[in-house]
Amino acid sequence: MGKLDGRIAIITGASEGIGLAGAKLFLEEGAKVVISSSNAEKGKKALEELNNENAYYVKCDVSKEEEVINLFDETEKKFGVATIVYANAGILDIQEIHKTSLEDWNKVINVDLTGTFLTCREAVKRMLEHGLKGTILTTGSYNGLRGGANNAAYSAAKAGIMQLTRSLAEGYAKYGIRTNCVSPGKVRTKMMTGNVGKSAGSQILRADGSALYDGFSEFDKQVLKGQLLGRVGEAEEVAKVALFLASEDSSFVVGENIMVDGGLMSR
Ligand SMILES: NC(=O)c1ccc[n+]([C@@H]2O[C@H](COP(=O)([O-])OP(=O)(O)OC[C@H]3O[C@@H](n4cnc5c(N)ncnc54)[C@H](OP(=O)(O)O)[C@@H]3O)[C@@H](O)[C@H]2O)c1
Repeated sequence: MGKLDGRIAIITGASEGIGLAGAKLFLEEGAKVVISSSNAEKGKKALEELNNENAYYVKCDVSKEEEVINLFDETEKKFGVATIVYANAGILDIQEIHKTSLEDWNKVINVDLTGTFLTCREAVKRMLEHGLKGTILTTGSYNGLRGGANNAAYSAAKAGIMQLTRSLAEGYAKYGIRTNCVSPGKVRTKMMTGNVGKSAGSQILRADGSALYDGFSEFDKQVLKGQLLGRVGEAEEVAKVALFLASEDSSFVVGENIMVDGGLMSR
């Protein structure tokens, strides 16, 4: 018997990385899973990779209200009302604060923070309308606790997500809707490997601004310096924590921010 038998899940930003790993695990545990992302081509490839009749893809840019509403509408038509909603979609922009345009700032805030709000709002609304209990997961980051000179918008968005999580928990726990936040450390996905070395002012930045370290082995060397476990995290390790929070194994956990960071923030 699976931990998510009979459950219907939506995962945003699931065309690759942590979201896709979460989709695989949720399917293995018996859920019907709608994956979504802003790039339909990538999303369809991910659906092919899942190769499971209980998986479905809906294109959804989480920064667009109408697309988020459509994601929930399509989920209801295909499978029914989602009682697990994993707001995982996120983007990272690396640049110094004084060089950040309002447009770049807004892009990150709109996807990471407003996108999480829109996803969670819709999740709660549908569960309440149907009198259903459920679990909502948001996605923070170690940057939400620590800040980052070269990713202020991202750090601000992730800190905001943690407070949004607590607010959702306080507002809806009484209806049996538990909201918790999963905060990865440095995990081997395109978001992290594609950005290592881009920190402005760092000696690992090439003159043209491109990343000097872009291979996994060099990435590993950088990360080893920060995480107590001495290795990079894997998407599947974050997905396992998401499964715990989505399932009844975490029935007495609400409003929490769970670090999955190999000890990065424990130093
Ligand atoms: N990897 C890490 O080390 C790390 C650390 C801390 C926190 N996190 C957080 O974990 C989450 C997943 O990150 P990841 O590492 O798996 O990143 P990733 O491999 O870059 O995947 C990001 C996912 O988000 C989707 N996405 C991007 N913009 C979107 C938008 N506007 N609307 C909907 N989906 C969108 C992407 O698909 P499309 O391109 O198809 O839209 C992709 O599926 C993010 O919230 C990230 O901030 C990751």
